[in-house]
Amino acid sequence: MSIPLSIKWDGQQLTILDQQKLPHEIDYLTLETVEDVYNAIFSLKVRGAPAIGITAAYGLAIGAQRHEAVSLEAFQQYVEKDAAYLNSSRPTAVNLGWALSRLKDKVQEAENVQQAKLLLLAEAVKIHKEDEESCRSIGEHALVLLQGKTKVMTICNAGSIATAKYGTALAPFHLGSERGREFEVFACETRPVYQGARLTAWELQQSGVDVTLITDSMAAHTIGAKGIEAIIVGADRIAANGDTANKIGTYNLALLANAFSIPFYVAAPASTFDLSIEDGTVIPIEERNPEEITHTNGQPVAPLGTKVFNPAFDVTPAHLITAIITEKGIITAEYKKNIPDLLGAFTGK
Ligand code: MRU
Repeated sequence: MSIPLSIKWDGQQLTILDQQKLPHEIDYLTLETVEDVYNAIFSLKVRGAPAIGITAAYGLAIGAQRHEAVSLEAFQQYVEKDAAYLNSSRPTAVNLGWALSRLKDKVQEAENVQQAKLLLLAEAVKIHKEDEESCRSIGEHALVLLQGKTKVMTICNAGSIATAKYGTALAPFHLGSERGREFEVFACETRPVYQGARLTAWELQQSGVDVTLITDSMAAHTIGAKGIEAIIVGADRIAANGDTANKIGTYNLALLANAFSIPFYVAAPASTFDLSIEDGTVIPIEERNPEEITHTNGQPVAPLGTKVFNPAFDVTPAHLITAIITEKGIITAEYKKNIPDLLGAFTGK
């Protein structure tokens, strides 16, 4: 039994687990160029907010090694252009822009092009390592909140393969499994891309966690029938007031948690907060290809030409969130005050 990893850096090469092929095939891809990285993020070969931030950081650093700029100013322009391109690969997760900004800031510190190249690589490695530590810490805090609770529901995949390791919402289950603490996890399949079925069910099985798959429409019935005691989800962007964007269907679960009077937890690192926006109304929501809904395995399941609305994320209003679990501690309402109090001067981009 082991916790799967999705991003590997050996000092020379970046490889990622191709999440589009899971659970049938375990295939690692080498990403060599900025374009490779953009395509891997755009096509969901690597996905999950922290994981796309880490991968984009490596992508920017790898791409920068090839730029033969004569001046630091010209090099900075290359880096700016590549960062803007990578940042356009997906709109909702703020971790992407956050990681790229950290790297761009490093270039500002450099005295020459050679030093800038080294600083970029070092910063990408740092972001990768920090995320693993953050996720471990989120797991520890979540275990405290979940004390005495066994049956927990989740959606999408906010797991090890969506981060550097451990995950956010799935971190307590991985840590629990290492310590002999048993959970029964109920994973919503997460239509239309099936991150719950293809990724969460697979990932939790890999680390020996008891996982039961349900369709998204079974959530209300399952909470009652199986005695679900809490719901825990990840996040792609959290506004200053606590409104949280996460995978489509998350908002439904928050409403259900409220109706059943069970806690609804969001687990996310500081890099997922965007304190530049006051509330969730301005979070950009990605809309994906209609064929994700009209087709299954390439076969149409709806009349040809059917109109489709396919938002990949929704925004859960802060008042439905019992607590936000971060690596720095647990945040509860009043979020507007308590988020900056805990995260300090941190601001997402
Ligand atoms: O479209 P995806 O698969 O990238 O969406 C991922 C999610 O919504 C996750 O819950 C979120 O990014 C948190 S990952 C720790």
